[in-house]
Amino acid sequence: MDIFHIEGPVRLSGSVSINGSKNASLPIMAATILAPGESSLKSVPHLSDISLCGQLLQQLGCKLTRGPDGDLCIDSTVIDNPVGDYEIVRRMRAGICILGPLLARCGRAEVSMPGGCAIGDRPVNLHIRGLQELGAQIHLKNGYIIAEAPNGLRGKDIFMGGPFGSTVLGTANVLMAATLAKGRTVIESAACEPEITDLANCLNKMGAKIKGIGSPRLIIEGVRQLQPVEFEVIPDRIEAGTFMAAAAITASELRLKNCRLDDMMAVIDRLRNIGVTVDAEGDGCLVTRTGPIRPADITTQPYPGFPTDLQAQFMALLSLTDGNSVIIEKVFPDRFMHVAELNRMAANLRKEGPVVIVAGVKKLIAAPVMASDLRASAALVLAGLAAEGTTIVSRVYHIDRGYEKIEEKLNPLGAKITRQSI
Ligand code: EPU
Repeated sequence: MDIFHIEGPVRLSGSVSINGSKNASLPIMAATILAPGESSLKSVPHLSDISLCGQLLQQLGCKLTRGPDGDLCIDSTVIDNPVGDYEIVRRMRAGICILGPLLARCGRAEVSMPGGCAIGDRPVNLHIRGLQELGAQIHLKNGYIIAEAPNGLRGKDIFMGGPFGSTVLGTANVLMAATLAKGRTVIESAACEPEITDLANCLNKMGAKIKGIGSPRLIIEGVRQLQPVEFEVIPDRIEAGTFMAAAAITASELRLKNCRLDDMMAVIDRLRNIGVTVDAEGDGCLVTRTGPIRPADITTQPYPGFPTDLQAQFMALLSLTDGNSVIIEKVFPDRFMHVAELNRMAANLRKEGPVVIVAGVKKLIAAPVMASDLRASAALVLAGLAAEGTTIVSRVYHIDRGYEKIEEKLNPLGAKITRQSI
């Protein structure tokens, strides 16, 4: 159980390269199940969630290796155990996205029900309903989702919207299953996140026939088989947004390489709104804050809205403005475990249901704090960079799930973060 000691406040400068996207890599790794043979994926980051997904695929029968240039090679020639084990899925909820491809390839899949986590209940009813619409028989047994389609899946028009809008991994599951279904599937209210676009592009490169990519209506003509693929995943827009917030909270100038601004319009809009400059430059951007920042209101929404995965980091940032901001969480209404921890660092945050009122303070003060989930821990690291004194963040394993060696990226820029194993 590692902890971080973060000395602040610091100014950052220099340039940082953004990794490939975790949330694009995970469903794309699962998609290799659909195409027997060896696929090679570039820019898959070295993260604990990626290792867990790799373990899950190995348990199915796949062979995984990292090539000399870091490519992740997945050989899915043999899949002889279509079971997603509880011990892995409970630790990495994205494991649920093997359900659709396993069912399509093997006609049967058993995947553990993921259960809740620190950001809320996280049901999978829409995944299940979508697969049932494609003809799967699904029941629950001993905490496992048992899905069967011995005679194959059949294309259908499916509405995938739920009480909080579209579902990212639910769309991924049904989309992957539909590529091998007989006939045409229409997914209405599909998630439009860039990670789903990346998955759909990868599937098409494997031989799938998907139209409407990037829109809420995906049209899939089922094919008989898919081929293994070489594919490079997109840069991680959430890691990029976290580094943008790092530049902003420390009143610094940072150059981000390998980041796609087109995927981040809502985030850049909020940054510009509070007085941070974001200029496109090469394959990335220059983020600069020279003066004070202004308060702003943020509502998280499915893409292209402001991402829930940056809500915590921007809450840390807005806690240092001169005035009141309002943050409304419309994707995961309970995703506020960081509020109490940031208040321990002298932020002034008041939570009312899915809303947090952020009353700006002049400074944050270091404190021992506890990471509760991946993005909440990123917010605590950002707060630690700006706070006076030494912030101690425990349960750093949460951050390792989604940020590759964050301290090794931040320290060359001027941060003073030490990792201690206890
Ligand atoms: N929902 C349902 N029923 C379902 C599925 C979802 O009601 O069957 C609800 C959820 O409870 C939530 C909303 O729909 O209120 C959206 O959830 P979604 O299914 O889109 O989330 P997810 O696919 O499980 C992915 C990311 C999350 C990210 C969300 C939202 C991956 C591996 N995970 O989760 O990323 O927050 O989309 O953008 O792609 C993270 O990286 O830290 C992270 C949590």
